Amino acid sequence: MKSVNTVAALRQQIKAWRQAGERVGFVPTMGNLHEGHLALVQEARKRADHVVVSIFVNPMQFGPSEDFDRYPRTLAADSARLEKVGADLLFAPPLEEVYPAGHVVATHVDVPQVSQGLCGAQRPGHFVGVATVVAKLFNMVQADVAVFGEKDYQQLQVIRRMVADLCFPVDIVGVPTVRDSSGLAMSSRNAYLSEQQKSLAANIYKNLNEVAGRIRAGERDYVALQSWAMTQLAAQGFDPEYFEVRNARSLLPATASDTALRLLVAARLGKVRLIDNIGLCL
Ligand code: PAJ
Repeated sequence: MKSVNTVAALRQQIKAWRQAGERVGFVPTMGNLHEGHLALVQEARKRADHVVVSIFVNPMQFGPSEDFDRYPRTLAADSARLEKVGADLLFAPPLEEVYPAGHVVATHVDVPQVSQGLCGAQRPGHFVGVATVVAKLFNMVQADVAVFGEKDYQQLQVIRRMVADLCFPVDIVGVPTVRDSSGLAMSSRNAYLSEQQKSLAANIYKNLNEVAGRIRAGERDYVALQSWAMTQLAAQGFDPEYFEVRNARSLLPATASDTALRLLVAARLGKVRLIDNIGLCL
């Protein structure tokens, strides 16, 4: 696997592949890679001749009190993992390469509606930061296909919307969430959890499935189900932010006539913020 950290070097490699008529797949990440990220690389390999993975901890998407400074940076280990799973090119630019004049004054991409509510309400400016950096990375890499995880379902919908609205010539593919044996969704932030918190955290997925089961069995009072789940999370020791039943595409509150639903949850365990979601078709 080749590794580059400038846009010029990246473009040189991509140009050679394009001239040979080969398809380019792209997986953007912030590093500290786990099985979830590697599943995206494997999916990209199926859909393209070459796979580019970016590792860039994007300051624009972190709030002032969030973990930008202490976000785990593990480039050597990440690089070894990517090599094993067959990535072709690692793009790990320094801050100045992505934001030459600093991220505060950089042009922003705002995807309204779908960015609002859920994580957007809890993390003001987060999705502007995500959409902006992904737009920049898309322009740098110019891939045919880009792969994202359903783990960050709202993020995936924001990217899909941005790509449609701004006519980016790239196909967006979503990959189901990779979980550990307890059902806990894999996340770089799980490293902040103690062993005891980890086993408690598995309840998030259990609650999602329980609510999905009740909906499948015919319950349609989503507001009541949401507040039941919030109470349940609090009783289990979480500090719940939201538990929502939404339309899977618009992410608006689900109505009784919606058939494609997404159940989404965010809850804190100590200082660690965990998110998860599952889909449900009626
Ligand atoms: P990061 O959190 O590193 O995640 C990179 C990609 O991996 C995202 O598409 C995310 O949804 C996916 N992912 C994370 N955990 C996963 C899991 N357990 N199963 C499947 N996929 C998983 O998301 C970001 O970085 C950033 O916001 C980024 C898009 C790179 C923009 O900075």
